[in-house]
Amino acid sequence: GVIRRADYRAPDWLVSDIALDFDLDPAATQVRATLIVTRNGAHDAPLRLDGDGLTPLSVKVDGIDTPYTMEGGTLVIAVPGDAHEIETRVEIAPAANTQLMGLYASGGNLCTQCEAEGFRRITFFPDRPDVLSKYRVRMTADKARFPVLLANGDPIASGDAADGRHWAEWHDPFPKPSYLFALVAGDLAANTATFTTMSGRQVTLGIWVREKDLPKTDHALHALKLSMAWDEQVYGREYDLDVFNIVAVDDFNFGAMENKGLNIFNSRYILADPDTATDYDYDAVAAVVAHEYFHNWSGNRVTCRDWFQLSLKEGFTVYRDQGFSADQGSAAVKRIEDVRGLRAAQFPEDAGPLAHPVRPDEYVEISNFYTATIYNKGAEVIRMMATILGPQKFRAGTDRYFDRFDGTAATCEDFVACMEEASGVDLTQFRLWYSQAGTPRVTASLEHEAGSGRARLDLRQSVPPTPGQPNKAPMVLPLRIKLFGAETAQPIAEEQLVLLSDGDAQLTFDGVTERPVLSINRGFSAPVIVDTNRSVADLAFLSAHDDDPFARYEAMQQLMLDTLVAAVTHGRADHASVIEAVANTLADPALDRAFVAEAVLLPSDSFIGDQLPVVDPEAIFQKREALRRDLGKALEPQWREAYEAARANRFEYSPAGKGARRLKSVSLGYVIASGAADGADLAFAQFDAADNMTDRQGGLTALVNSESDKRHAALDIFYNRYADNALVLDKWFQTQALATRDDTAAAVEALASHPDFTLANPNRARALVGAFAVNQRAFHSGEGRGYRFVADQLIALDQLNPQTAAKLVPPLGRWKRFDAARAARMRSELERILATPGLSKDMTEQVSKSLEG
Ligand code: ARG
Ligand code: ZN
Repeated sequence: GVIRRADYRAPDWLVSDIALDFDLDPAATQVRATLIVTRNGAHDAPLRLDGDGLTPLSVKVDGIDTPYTMEGGTLVIAVPGDAHEIETRVEIAPAANTQLMGLYASGGNLCTQCEAEGFRRITFFPDRPDVLSKYRVRMTADKARFPVLLANGDPIASGDAADGRHWAEWHDPFPKPSYLFALVAGDLAANTATFTTMSGRQVTLGIWVREKDLPKTDHALHALKLSMAWDEQVYGREYDLDVFNIVAVDDFNFGAMENKGLNIFNSRYILADPDTATDYDYDAVAAVVAHEYFHNWSGNRVTCRDWFQLSLKEGFTVYRDQGFSADQGSAAVKRIEDVRGLRAAQFPEDAGPLAHPVRPDEYVEISNFYTATIYNKGAEVIRMMATILGPQKFRAGTDRYFDRFDGTAATCEDFVACMEEASGVDLTQFRLWYSQAGTPRVTASLEHEAGSGRARLDLRQSVPPTPGQPNKAPMVLPLRIKLFGAETAQPIAEEQLVLLSDGDAQLTFDGVTERPVLSINRGFSAPVIVDTNRSVADLAFLSAHDDDPFARYEAMQQLMLDTLVAAVTHGRADHASVIEAVANTLADPALDRAFVAEAVLLPSDSFIGDQLPVVDPEAIFQKREALRRDLGKALEPQWREAYEAARANRFEYSPAGKGARRLKSVSLGYVIASGAADGADLAFAQFDAADNMTDRQGGLTALVNSESDKRHAALDIFYNRYADNALVLDKWFQTQALATRDDTAAAVEALASHPDFTLANPNRARALVGAFAVNQRAFHSGEGRGYRFVADQLIALDQLNPQTAAKLVPPLGRWKRFDAARAARMRSELERILATPGLSKDMTEQVSKSLEG
């Protein structure tokens, strides 16, 4: 059924304390739960405890066996008084849990994932985030097989038991919702350290992995210490327990989980060393470690009242982790990366059948709402408040929020109200960002009257209709704006923050004696699409002279996009302006290498497609390749120079090192695109001699996308070298699934039968099926062959792991954006999926919404 935000009611029963006793065994684990429950308010409703796939072995109320009924999975007990002790016992089978929700087995160890509704697969409980309880956990397990026993909070006691078993008890003093419960039992080793908090608390940090992976944990441990210090300095937030543990597991549905004092991670966001992790991986490890750590305040100390408020913790925490990463290196490059990610994932979501507000009004399956909108658009909404309020008032607002709601379950409204109270700024209209879906569009046109020295900027906004929301009100759009003189390249008017809140607005500037050029939405101050009347010359000018690095990057991207869109729609191929702008950027010694690499990279096939009324994947690919080829040829000496300049560097994970490697790979790509005879040799040499994975994978990717026969040898070498490393084998699958070759679809089908391919591991499934589905050219080639393949895989995956399967539906759901023949084929695959007997709730919701369009 549909769950509606408007139907929220406070819980009938509260649980102040819970004691859990686990007799752990992969095949059959016994769980005894003792709950102290109290009636919440005056009502005579029975006690209802959520369960999913559980059968009670016994139910006791105040020590006495008591009758109960089952309503679906829910255990219903009629209890007479206002306070009782409830004891239930169940048996679960972690080894048979392929959904990876609840208690499951990964690599021979046992671990949990409870957000959002996994706790009900472990024991009967009011499994909703506004029921906060103190947890005591006792685990007993075979000592040889599971020497390490971890849970939330602090370790209290441990000891040996009969028959080679042992036990441990953990106690979490902070009341928490059930989705933050965690335990781990396994054969693990820890990389440990101590962190002293600002008030002098000594915290023991531990990163737990298989013994052989210990050498790959230093980066994560270092990032954790940096995160703890950063949250103290920037938000005044201190850690609050004596231990903080992180466990890495190979089988995980998403990135990681912020369980109180016991974060559990997908191993891809913990393990890193130069030989196996790219710079991108290093950055992602640090960002996810920070994200989960920051949740200790934004999520755990202050949690969510209900799942409609998910962005309260996720949007805010993404904003916090973005700020952390920006402070570790180049803030400009970080902003560019984040905006690229937003445009790649969130803008299409907001423009498609699965569009939903940052605070949704309804859902069928909450797992489907862990989306780019909740996370990344949610972060942009927080960022806009920070921009509007300014840093001091924003910090006053977060202080107020943390102080006021500590230990409680809050709402997005609570957060905004704190911002208003701390700043005196009225955010009434701003709240539309929480309720209205769709990416606003801003039209900006600047006119100049040379005679009067007056310039006029006309701004107009519109918010597109989205499913269930046909009409939209104008929103508050904070736009950072500045004008530059076309002749002098000097600022004409200082930057101003324009809050566009009406449908349209006019700004005038006087004393403008030279032609002005508009720099708008600087720093991407609002997550909107901006259409301007800027010419190719204006964009080229800004790409060379704008003093906001994001705006400078953006001008270059817009110039490239305009060029490519013209090529696809009118067959025009005037590449001169792009070539000149790229040449200027490459030649500017003041620019940091990482920025240059971002700026000279062409927009992706998908992003070009997003600009067109009907996406023609093959035309887009060909026109983009043509521009790449021309850029490669025209600037070949410059690319070679940039390549050579970075070639001899030894690996160092630093902003400068990363920037050099990034520009090196981009330059290599252009040298190959130029058709140079030695291109494949250069790529192979880089692949072969690399002292780090960034260069090795960069070389491999260049070869795999080329026609050179060397690609076969490189793939084999890579496979053999990393055959026992699952995370690197994921790269091997992914690189082939993303290849821009004619035969990619066939290759991907063959890889699905490779002995190392399995749908049981989410990383592997995403590396092949997920990557292929976002390879615009390959997925949409071959008369629906790609659609059929992905649909087959999703049907199979849904049997094992509905959550992970449902996440892979959106590429097929974009059918409306394609020509009639493709759209019909995509729809028919969606219909075939929907007709599958026993399809999960997760898939049913995603697929039926996608068909409705
Ligand atoms: N809260 C986790 C995070 O840090 C993610 C949990 C995802 N849960 C889900 N059902 N998809 O972002
Ligand atoms: Zn999160």
